[in-house]
Amino acid sequence: MRALVLSGGAGTRLRPLTHTSAKQLVPVANKPVLFYGLEAIAETGITEVGIVVGVDSAAEEIKEAVGDGSQFGLDVTFIPQDAPRGLAHAVLIARDFLGDEDFVMYLGDNFIVGGIKALVDEFRREQPAAQILLTQVPDPTQLGVAELDAYGKVIGLEEKPKQPKSDLALVGVYMFTPAIHEAVRKIKPSWRNELEITHAIQWLIDQGMDLRSTVISGYWKDTGNVADMLEVNRTILETLEPKVEGTVDDVSEIIGRVVIEAGATVTASRIVGPAIIGRGTTVADSYVGPFTSVEHDCRIVDSEIEFSIVEHDTSVEGVRRIEASLIGHHVQVTPAPRVPKAHRLVLGDHSRIQISS
Ligand code: TTP
Repeated sequence: MRALVLSGGAGTRLRPLTHTSAKQLVPVANKPVLFYGLEAIAETGITEVGIVVGVDSAAEEIKEAVGDGSQFGLDVTFIPQDAPRGLAHAVLIARDFLGDEDFVMYLGDNFIVGGIKALVDEFRREQPAAQILLTQVPDPTQLGVAELDAYGKVIGLEEKPKQPKSDLALVGVYMFTPAIHEAVRKIKPSWRNELEITHAIQWLIDQGMDLRSTVISGYWKDTGNVADMLEVNRTILETLEPKVEGTVDDVSEIIGRVVIEAGATVTASRIVGPAIIGRGTTVADSYVGPFTSVEHDCRIVDSEIEFSIVEHDTSVEGVRRIEASLIGHHVQVTPAPRVPKAHRLVLGDHSRIQISS
């Protein structure tokens, strides 16, 4: 069995970060989202993994971060997709890599607590034509949604329906036999001009093939937007083993579940966990509140920040207070001069900024 990980895409909901960087590499508790997925795949015993990437700088970043996959015990092949033409298009272009083996398809920005080993084992045992995962969501209108019969069997799938037929949405992990290859060749692009995997699975249902579904009750998130990214970060930080490998001075206070990585320096500050401070980062005269991840080589000086993700090589100096924020790498956040009372902004395209004054 092989794995196909989808790490291309447009990432419009995470602009401007995705103009230059891959959303799958946004750090959650200082580790890229994608790495959690690759670790979950490695746990199933699968070693041959194809990663679908775009043809932009984000793709280069992913290749560089993942390398040949050996850091995860995997053998990784990159499959370039010329444009985000849909999840089923990714399967289409991976035909040669997948050969005639069964495979698990994993969306590279999805996050499942507890991994996928039990699900993959069940698929191997039962051998249906395909198996999907479903989860109950409060608002299914932005997702793929399943329609079930009285016995709980999936009889239809719809992509982002205006009037959903259930509250069960598709989770970003799918298991397929080679039957899917004919399906992705048969379907036509949708109104948004993408080859939809829901349409391909619907084609399998229409052919009378055995599609199984498992409703997962555990934690699943698509980290495609900022709110969900912060939420996944919060969840993972809550599981960290506290440890202080960096330097903390006597007047600083470290409270609760806090990781201070080697080479980090904390002076005259208060850090309330769960939180993680990356290697080589300086925190001085500051408050770092719960659910905050600061990656490596940052400066948090004379500032207050909580419930946020700060990517590497960023500095936040003299600013209070930052909350619920996702800050990219090599960013500088500083106060404006007192007079004139004005904001001075250099923001990338599609930035979003909320100013409280
Ligand atoms: P999505 O998050 O559904 O799509 P997107 O990345 O284009 O984002 P947005 O909706 O914010 O514009 O994609 C799910 C995953 O699949 C994600 O990791 C990107 C990847 N993907 C591909 O690799 N190829 C594709 O053609 C598409 C549509 C997505």
